[in-house]
Amino acid sequence: MGEQYKLSDCKLPWTNVWVTGASQGIGRSLTMALAAAGVNVIASARGIDNLQQLVADSAELSGDIHIVPLDVTDYSAVLMAVEAIEASWGKLDLAVLNAGTYLPMKAIDFDCYLIQKQMELNVMGVCHCIEPLMQLFKQQGQGHIAINASLAGYRGLPNSGGYGASKAALINLAESMRVEIDQRIIKIQVINPGFVKTPLTDKNTFPMPFLMDSDKAAHVLIKGLQSSRFEIRFPFGFGLIMGVLKHLPLSLYNKIIGRLSV
Ligand SMILES: NC(=O)c1ccc[n+]([C@@H]2O[C@H](COP(=O)([O-])OP(=O)(O)OC[C@H]3O[C@@H](n4cnc5c(N)ncnc54)[C@H](OP(=O)(O)O)[C@@H]3O)[C@@H](O)[C@H]2O)c1
Repeated sequence: MGEQYKLSDCKLPWTNVWVTGASQGIGRSLTMALAAAGVNVIASARGIDNLQQLVADSAELSGDIHIVPLDVTDYSAVLMAVEAIEASWGKLDLAVLNAGTYLPMKAIDFDCYLIQKQMELNVMGVCHCIEPLMQLFKQQGQGHIAINASLAGYRGLPNSGGYGASKAALINLAESMRVEIDQRIIKIQVINPGFVKTPLTDKNTFPMPFLMDSDKAAHVLIKGLQSSRFEIRFPFGFGLIMGVLKHLPLSLYNKIIGRLSV
């Protein structure tokens, strides 16, 4: 973790935080930054080796990292994991539902398998977690859920049919939960990153404007999680551009974005 992004001097408002997709990329940086600031993090992902490495790398940090290996697409396994978290750590303050993937698809080569994979992980993987978390947070009388969507969920982008649709679903889901639930009891936030340098984006061959380092992203994310804002959006410049594009008339949007799809 970059020295400049250490948060260890600030007292964060959480004791126990659950992060899914914690073994690499944004989730790993977030887990390390939280542990560096003294927070206990329950870290989930499928790959046990990466999770064990995470624990080894955090040995010097003031917070503990506990691993709960988990495939979030497995509904029963998620229910058991949340039960185990409750039994072992008692009160859970915050869950960052971050596990997700990007599988590029050209519309001309439309492939239901790619759509299904992204819906199962990006959408249902999050839903599987929300169901038991709502029960737990209702019992606790308090909780906080942050869903990692994407700026790609704002509007249709080239080669992102399945990914964008899955992330648009998450944004809509979070908005719907936010209007129904008393935010003083269960806080709901949506995270909309632009491009962050991770193993997921390392596969991209196209230029990624405003590409952000994942430690910096974790730092911005932690600040956003402490705020009362519903949406945590970064990097600032790219978020602004995507925010403007979101409100353009469709004909103008198509002209601008259409140039990217050739
Ligand atoms: N990087 C970006 O530019 C960017 C931009 C916008 C949004 N996002 C979103 O941010 C989140 C994290 O992205 P990232 O770039 O950090 O991705 P990443 O580097 O590919 O990391 C994904 C994490 O999710 C875990 N994961 C994958 N499938 C899983 C499953 N079935 N069950 C549990 N964990 C699973 C992975 O570990 P295992 O494979 O070991 O399970 C890994 O820890 C994703 O939701 C992504 O869509 C990223």
